[in-house]
Amino acid sequence: MSQILKDRFGRIHDYLRISVTDRCNLRCVYCMPEEGMEFEPEEKLLTFEEIAEVVRVLAGYGVRKLRLTGGEPLVRKNLEQLVRMLSAIDGIEDIALTTNAIHFASRAEKLREAGLTRINVSLDSLRADRFSLITRGGDLSRVLASLEAASRVGLDPIKLNVVLMKGLNDDEIEDFLKLTLERGLHVRFIEYMPIGHDDNGWKTRYIPLDTVLERCETIGWQVETLEEGVRGNGPSQNFRITGAAGTFGLIHPVSDHFCQTCNRLRLTSDGNIKPCLYWSDEFNVRRYIGNDQALAELFFRALDVKPESHEMVKALLSEQHSHTPTSRRMSQIGG
Ligand code: GTP
Ligand code: 5AD
Ligand code: SF4
Repeated sequence: MSQILKDRFGRIHDYLRISVTDRCNLRCVYCMPEEGMEFEPEEKLLTFEEIAEVVRVLAGYGVRKLRLTGGEPLVRKNLEQLVRMLSAIDGIEDIALTTNAIHFASRAEKLREAGLTRINVSLDSLRADRFSLITRGGDLSRVLASLEAASRVGLDPIKLNVVLMKGLNDDEIEDFLKLTLERGLHVRFIEYMPIGHDDNGWKTRYIPLDTVLERCETIGWQVETLEEGVRGNGPSQNFRITGAAGTFGLIHPVSDHFCQTCNRLRLTSDGNIKPCLYWSDEFNVRRYIGNDQALAELFFRALDVKPESHEMVKALLSEQHSHTPTSRRMSQIGG
């Protein structure tokens, strides 16, 4: 291998998050506006062949782990084929999916066969009426069926992503934790991030995740910190309630960012490299596909401007910062 993807701060990038579409079959309140959004026209999306080309080149520079995101990745037709193409690339060891799992159950088997290694499922409430409210119409029973299907086909670990929001689902922390007592699931609580939308909703709904550990203490659950043990490439800090079958994790980009260990690059569905989730810097790959050297150089250029941290809150409060915050919404980046 010629070189690895190391940035100015010595961080090695071996993980690529690939958004395959900006469309979604839901409109979660923290992610999309109620009226919906204008989606990218199909011709602007990278084709599966183009995505696979990018991954093949990056695998030569040490990328080992991939995550397919959206919008909702399963609304992109024939995603199984992309998974098959990516899993055939030398060097790729992990292909994960972040999904709302509404359409996962019937495709679990095929995706697994194609080479999918694991899934993270967005699930912000265990109550059907509230789930429908948060997702603006989602059917909880479909997600639960998908979780069954995922374990039936042997995907492991299965993670749940719970974005905590004050007054919306913070009274369910205990229910989610109880789920880990009984089942080998990995529940990750996520701090609500102020990304790509006006900050009004964020300011009233944001909760720091200390709340989760405090809740365990109040209930009297003993909590063990896990240094290792849950396969993953992301920023989650992991714990287990003593004796529990599963684990829980805290992802706290706002109260205590984890940028010093960032190992990831992002590729948007319209072909832009995003070196950092929060900032607007982007580099379009399209005209470089077919020229491996030039494509690799573009990734190194993106790494050169990758900031040391996201400074999300500072930027929001308009303190001085050197980059412009992204105007993309989460569904246009893939988290
Ligand atoms: P694992 O490999 O399973 O650990 O995945 P992950 O936690 O990286 O991926 P997932 O798509 O499930 O993301 C969970 C949450 O973490 C989402 O809300 C993401 O937006 C957030 N997240 C992931 N990577 C970053 C990052 O680099 N910066 C910030 N601020 N948030 C991130
Ligand atoms: N803050 C935190 N997490 C978010 N996600 C989407 N929008 C936000 C936000 N504003 C989560 C989704 C999904 C993951 C990719 O990102 O719930 O699980
Ligand atoms: Fe869709 Fe995920 Fe955004 Fe919800 S969070 S609207 S499931 S992309």
